Amino acid sequence: MEVILNRDSAEASRRAAALIAHEVRRKPDTVLGLATGSTPLQVYQNLIHIHREEGLSFAGVTTFNLDEYIGLGMDHPQSYHAYMREHLFRHLDLSPGKCHLPNGLAEHVPEECDRYEQRIRDAGGIDLQLLGLGADGHIGFNEPISSLASRTRIKTLTPRTREDNARFFERAEDVPHHVLTMGIGTILESRRIVLLAFGEAKAKAAANMIEGPLSASNPASALQMHPRVHVFLDEAAAGLLTRADYYRWVYEQKPDWQRTP
Ligand code: F6R
Repeated sequence: MEVILNRDSAEASRRAAALIAHEVRRKPDTVLGLATGSTPLQVYQNLIHIHREEGLSFAGVTTFNLDEYIGLGMDHPQSYHAYMREHLFRHLDLSPGKCHLPNGLAEHVPEECDRYEQRIRDAGGIDLQLLGLGADGHIGFNEPISSLASRTRIKTLTPRTREDNARFFERAEDVPHHVLTMGIGTILESRRIVLLAFGEAKAKAAANMIEGPLSASNPASALQMHPRVHVFLDEAAAGLLTRADYYRWVYEQKPDWQRTP
């Protein structure tokens, strides 16, 4: 796991966006896994800037989002379909047919989950998966005690996650209880993973993910099993790491060829 400590979320997001842009330049038909929530917003703003100012095309790119609320249609303002349109898709030259999210209104949930997994396989698998981190250690919506081998399926949100996400809804009780989410096993099959976490509220989850034992109690600790993970933290999210100085030193000592773009 490469741990990259940043001054603030702006620096972390610039670096993460540069890495994603580099991947798209290298492989114009890259398959990107995308996340929602507050954390990736600045990454998306940076990608939009790179697209506009540097002419980077996303026309060949395929995307798969991690998750969607069950019961929210794609036109519901709090759906992740709407979030992605608003914050990324409408600003880039992505082809709408290549942007995939789970269908929160699917009549038959297990079939929808199998279809989603099949679509990822048909696209050749995810080249680079972008992740945020839940305060309780979730990735995607794989809440604590999720199987570390899980696939796309229905999950019930914890009261803590519903509270954390209530800020996006008019009333706290409007936050759905259920979601469709890629599983931890699905996420681990991505060829490369970029995770960002900002703020003190994420410090414990970040420390558990990087330095804690591998455990379904801390779903993000499963990333310790992945050979190519880049973790971008701001100072507050790095606040409980016991080896922060070592991670800084390693990053400074890297030979140029090994530096994350
Ligand atoms: C969103 C997702 C979640 C969020 C996490 C952090 O698609 O899968 O795991 O990344 O809940 O949310 P924020 O970024 O809002 O703190």
